[in-house]
Amino acid sequence: MSLTRRVFLKLSAAATAALALFPRAALAAKKKMAVPLAKVEKLKAVDGWAVLQIKDKKVLFIRESETKVNAVSAECTHQKCQVAYNPATKRIECACHGSKFTPAGQVLNGPATVSLPNYNAALDGERIIIEMEE
Ligand code: FES
Repeated sequence: MSLTRRVFLKLSAAATAALALFPRAALAAKKKMAVPLAKVEKLKAVDGWAVLQIKDKKVLFIRESETKVNAVSAECTHQKCQVAYNPATKRIECACHGSKFTPAGQVLNGPATVSLPNYNAALDGERIIIEMEE
């Protein structure tokens, strides 16, 4: 069976649309890494937080509860200052220009308009397992 020009053009358009919907970054392999809690005492207690360098990224870890930990980029999406967690307000704050984010990284107040990228992270006994792109 041969392709007619019309069918070929439809298939080409579909392939182009698929590439647009699933960019290469979305297909990048992810790797799980372990962060031992013994090395980060601050993350043992609820409301503890720490910024750790993992590979080439600075990651803000927040111990939200006995069973939950969040991991987001520690780099503000406005002009790349390092953010910090404020346990009193339960917000991630940027001291440079005042942006605020939820503990999961969603932007609440600008000037930042983009949420902090977040990573899959979970407690596993005495360590945190974080999943990052290779
Ligand atoms: S760099 Fe964070 S608010 Fe401007």
